[in-house]
Order: sequence, then C-alpha cells, then structure tokens
Amino acid sequence: MTNEKQTYISDFGKHVGNDVTVKGWLYNRRSSGKIQFILVRDGTGIVQCVFQKGDIPDELYEELDHLPLESSIIINGIVREDKRAPGGYEMGLKSARTVNIAEEFPITKKDHGPGFLMEHRHLWLRSKKQHAILRIRSRLIKSIYDFFFDRGYTLADTPIITPAACEGTTTLFNVDYFGEPAYLAQSGQLYSEATAAAFGKVFCFGPTFRAEKSKTRRHLTEFWMVEPEVAYMELDGLCELAEEFLTTIVGDVVRDCVAELATLERDVELLKKIAPPFPRITYTEAVEMLREKGHEFEWGNDFGAPDETALSESFDKPLMVTNYPVDAKAFYMKRDAQDPRTALCLDVLATEGHGEIIGGSQREDDLTALRQRIKEHGLPEDAFKWYVDLRRFGSFPHSGFGLGLERALSWIAGVEHIRECIPFPRMLYKIYP
Ligand code: 4AD
Ligand code: MG
Repeated sequence: MTNEKQTYISDFGKHVGNDVTVKGWLYNRRSSGKIQFILVRDGTGIVQCVFQKGDIPDELYEELDHLPLESSIIINGIVREDKRAPGGYEMGLKSARTVNIAEEFPITKKDHGPGFLMEHRHLWLRSKKQHAILRIRSRLIKSIYDFFFDRGYTLADTPIITPAACEGTTTLFNVDYFGEPAYLAQSGQLYSEATAAAFGKVFCFGPTFRAEKSKTRRHLTEFWMVEPEVAYMELDGLCELAEEFLTTIVGDVVRDCVAELATLERDVELLKKIAPPFPRITYTEAVEMLREKGHEFEWGNDFGAPDETALSESFDKPLMVTNYPVDAKAFYMKRDAQDPRTALCLDVLATEGHGEIIGGSQREDDLTALRQRIKEHGLPEDAFKWYVDLRRFGSFPHSGFGLGLERALSWIAGVEHIRECIPFPRMLYKIYP
C-alpha cells in the first residue's frame, strides 16, 4: 500500500467522487454516537474521514479507535464535498493501514509554555498555527524572488564566511578560517555593491548572522535577508523600490494564503491598505513626533522598539524614515549634502508595532570620504581594500536595502514573536533542536 498512488489533500477538489489514497498522520479524532470522525493530515491539508461500525472491518474499527495521535497512516476512500468539514471535503473511509504507531505525542491541546514548545520545535511544526506561518513564509520567499526576477534583477550570491564586518563589530560571530580570523556574514551588501557594478540591478538572498546579545521578540542570531542593490539609484528611487516591493509581496500573500491567514486570525483588511504612497518623514521629524507624544528623546540616538511602535501607531501604512544621524548608522552610508549631520538612509517601520523591517541607504561613492569613514569607524583598511577599489574603478551612485524575512513575516502573518517565523530559530543561548 505504500507504493500505491497518493493523492494530496490539497488536490481533493479535482477528485470529488473518486477513490483515493492519502498518506499522512492521524491528526485528531472525535466520535458522535455511533459515528467516528478521524482527521488525517498529509502536510498539504487536513481531511475528515467518517465511518461507523460495519463500514470497515471490526479489527480496523478497533485499531483506529485506539490509534495514538500522530501515528502514520495510509487511508483509502471516496472524496465527498462537504461544506461543514474542515477544508471543505470529507472522505468516506474504505480501508486504512497503520505505518507506525506513535508514542504518546508530547504536544497536546493543553496550554504549553513557549519554553516547552521551543524544546519540541521539531514536533511543534506539525501544529496548525506553525504550519500556517511557515506556509506563508514559503509563499513570501517565492514572491520575493518573483519580484526581482520580473524586474530584470540578477541574483548574485554573496559569501557567508567573510574577512570583514558590514554592520558594526559588536555582533560578529567568529570563525577560525584555517588559523585566520573570519566572521559569519551580517549582510551581503558590500559584495552586492561589487556585483551591482557588474550587473546593474542585483539582489542576494540568504542567511545572515548576528551575535545579538539581547533577548527580544524581534531578534534572531540567524535570519534571512533579501538585499537588492541598484546602480545609479539614489535615495528617492530606493524609497519607491521599497514601497513597490512591500506592496507586491503583501498583495501576493493576501491573495494566495487566504486559508493560512484565516487560521492565524490575521486581520487582512489591514493588509489590504498597504499600497503606495507610504508616509515618509525624516528622522528629525520623527524625533519631533515622539516628543509630541510625550517621549523624552535626544536627537542622535537610535530608536528603540517602543519608539518605533509609537511612531508607526499613527499610520496604517509602513512608515519610511530617512536621514538618520550619521553616528547612529553604518560606515558605508552617504552623507546628505543638504544636511551633513544625517545620512541618505531609509528605515521602513511596519504597521501595528512590528518594528523595522527594512534598513537601507545610498552608499558613499566618494573615494576620499569612504576612506575617511573606514578610519573613523576603526575598521581594518586591508580587509576593505577591494571595497574601496569600487570607488577607484568607475565609481557610481548606488543604493540598496535589506529586508529581514522573519521580521516581514511576523508583520504580515501577525505573529507576536519572531521565533515562530523560521523553522528552527537560533537565538541567544538557543541552538536546540
Ligand atoms: O538594518 P540592517 O542592519 O541593514 C543591513 O544589514 C544592510 N546592510 C542592508 C542593506 O542595505 N543591504 O538589517 C536589515 C534588516 C532589518 O531591517 C531587519 O528587518 C533585519 O534585517 N534584521 C534582523 N532580523 C532578525 N533578527 C535580527 N537580529 C536582525 N537584524 C536585522
Ligand atoms: Mg537597521
């Protein structure tokens, strides 16, 4: 029976009235008088099977009545449309075979604490809510690739083991590279600046690493980031790109993940409001807004999570904040000639208090200024020699940003804690499973 042709539950719409085989796991059961209901999941969906004594052999009836949840099982029967059934279809069970009898499943209906669930992340993934979040993640990733490929970008991968820091030296993970010091990449950006000079419009998309010492609901130590980098694009163009990008990926998820968003009880009406133009203010204006709201805030500091929440609360679209003080930001950002205390940079703050989802900037393209920044930031000039070269051989205005995939997902799916937005999260002191 394991060789038998398998029909996926997600395809049931094409098989109404047919005799099909589903290979999956026992998800749940209930009985109502003489009628038994079992729910079987196969990864693509959940189907309810109905039967009563006499429909199937007595031994099988007994076996199913006692089969522990999450046992693997192959079932066979007729697909019926039924509006009341979860998923809209039901299966009239004809036969079933247990592949493996599961031990008592540790995750039950009772309320488990996050510590317990995280310890059992490998099993927790099977639950409805986690399943929905990670399905949306998968759809979001496709949407991101489509967005850039549809617009003629070249995907140019960047290295994970690197000799230099991109986003400051305090969150580096060290690697022993044959006796030489090296780090896990915090961002692919510096390399994307090189590929942008070769291909014009590029993006990289991969895991990035930061030894974040703080425990927050927005920080992972390993997260995925997509980073477009565009030659001859300036800050205005970057803001437009971010707007179009976020609108597109949110729209794709709202259109294609109806069931998953419903499982998560996400208010999709709020997501449907995400369309250009997004509000755009400078850091200095944001500081004024915070003060008006009664926050004590000193010009020059970076925003903390409560500040970001307070700022975004006033808007029902993502908030674009430009021109942060140069001292609060990375070495590679170009200064604004109109206001040299500030950088030509952009942070996008998500709605509903989900915080910064995008960070980006126009890059310093002047050779002398860039050398100066590298010195000021105490960075090793040797390791950045190749990067400085880009300003020696046909320097060009260029800009790019990074979107944190898990941050974006927690916003779009309406998930409170980022740890649920990646299959196996890595956080401070957390590396199991
Ligand atoms: O603002 P960040 O640090 O910008 C960069 O790394 C640039 N080099 C990107 C670029 O211009 N190409 O990070 C970008 C985004 C943040 O806005 C946030 O969404 C996410 O990456 N991010 C994190 N996500 C989860 N956990 C963390 N510890 C994160 N740190 C940043
Ligand atoms: Mg940032």
